[in-house]
Amino acid sequence: MTALSVNINKFALVRNARGANMPDIINISKKCLQYGADGITVHPRPDERHAKFSDLEPLKNLISKYRNKEFNIEGYPSDNFIKKVINVKPNQVTLVPDPPGALTSSFGWDCEKNKTFLTDVVQKFQTNNIRVSLFINPSIKTLENLDKISTNRVELYTYDYAHNYSKNKSEAIKSYIKVSSYLKNKFPHIELNAGHDLNLENLDYFLKSIDNIKEVSIGHALICDTFEFGLENTIKKYLEISSRL
Ligand code: PXP
Repeated sequence: MTALSVNINKFALVRNARGANMPDIINISKKCLQYGADGITVHPRPDERHAKFSDLEPLKNLISKYRNKEFNIEGYPSDNFIKKVINVKPNQVTLVPDPPGALTSSFGWDCEKNKTFLTDVVQKFQTNNIRVSLFINPSIKTLENLDKISTNRVELYTYDYAHNYSKNKSEAIKSYIKVSSYLKNKFPHIELNAGHDLNLENLDYFLKSIDNIKEVSIGHALICDTFEFGLENTIKKYLEISSRL
């Protein structure tokens, strides 16, 4: 079974377009959890065009009312991000190497080049009881010193898989199977998340091909699906795939 964390950034983007609290992302998050989602993810960017840093505390208050539901905050670990996330203490922080103006996360960490920086940052979160996940490419050469960084989890960046899925899904999944087997053998204590461009079409094959994914975080496609199916039905459709034992 894989946990489904709903990334609500795009709901926040719509809210921000008019400067009023519509849609109310606390209410949307509450519904996502009531309909069965296992958690909520936000990615407060430096320009706050999606979720804002001021959204973090109310979201934490909401999510902590539920048993076994998790709050995941993604972002580049700037000093400001580190301070604000430690204040809020989510269950998990997912660190991405995005530059400030990035449209969306488009690559994972080079763990060799950023070893010292990441080791220090990961420790800061962990001493505050926040589980850390590092966003990574499906490429073994960027992961060789992962044990030194001591992350709890890694999140596989699934853009390449998603974009090659319709051409040849067994080819598209190959590098992901390779990396997940490498991690399982070399660092069995590091757990695996996945995310980016996953959708109702490609999620099932991904989860059937890699059996140990702890959590998927899904935003863009899930929110687009709500226009067609409504929020409750959309969450159920994703759960039917992710929660299959
Ligand atoms: N994981 C990370 C690190 C992300 O930055 C994003 C997008 O904010 C996602 C997962 C979710 O991607 P998508 O919106 O394509 O589902």
